[in-house]
Amino acid sequence: MAEFRQGKTVKTLTLKGREVVFRYPKMSDIDQMWRNYNRMIREGAMLSRNTVIKKKDSREWLESRIKQMRQNKAVQIMVEVEGKIIGSADIKRDPMEVSTHSGDLGIAITKEYRGIGIGPALLDVVCFLAKKRMRLKIVKFTVYSENRHAIHVYEKCGFRKAGVIPKRIYKKGKYIDDIIMYKPL
Ligand SMILES: CC(C)(COP(=O)(O)OP(=O)(O)OC[C@H]1O[C@@H](n2cnc3c(N)ncnc32)[C@H](O)[C@@H]1OP(=O)(O)O)[C@@H](O)C(=O)NCCC(=O)NCCS
Repeated sequence: MAEFRQGKTVKTLTLKGREVVFRYPKMSDIDQMWRNYNRMIREGAMLSRNTVIKKKDSREWLESRIKQMRQNKAVQIMVEVEGKIIGSADIKRDPMEVSTHSGDLGIAITKEYRGIGIGPALLDVVCFLAKKRMRLKIVKFTVYSENRHAIHVYEKCGFRKAGVIPKRIYKKGKYIDDIIMYKPL
């Protein structure tokens, strides 16, 4: 099982002739991570923010994430293709004492690299590590009802819908339903 060390490769695969590396984060990822995230926000990707993030906040987030990984409170996988970070996925342990066996998932891949199978492979790896390293039993998250691509991929990877929170999300001037999804590990 892959013990945490900054930058350590967890898995390498070839998709559509390209080598795709899944690895742990390192502090020097900060510039690319910050740029990618803000590019996706500007593009209108269905993520948890409407506005771009400051680099300082992004750095603090990454510092805290690396600390959480050392404490087995989170697992984060960066995706690298030809030396460039093109996405990531994470699962963070629930803080409530009664549900520490459960975690919240997030995933995002930059536009140019969507649709070639990286998402399903990444979901497999991050869930495997959450089960083995963090001993999690359930992964959950919410996804906007309009995000048909993500919902298709989640269902293909064994995630199930648990319910809908009507109009929970306000984005681009309108309210959108939020779908709760989960998977037992
Ligand atoms: C959602 C996401 C993680 C999926 O990863 P990915 O690497 O693009 O996934 P895939 O390569 O498997 O996608 C291709 C599959 O999706 C299907 N697909 C593509 N667009 C679709 C759409 N609009 N509606 C339904 N299915 C769609 C394809 O037909 C293909 O299905 P198949 O494998 O059954 O043939 C990625 O697209 C992403 O990061 N999106 C932006 C951020 C985001 O939405 N994150 C999730 C927030 S909850």
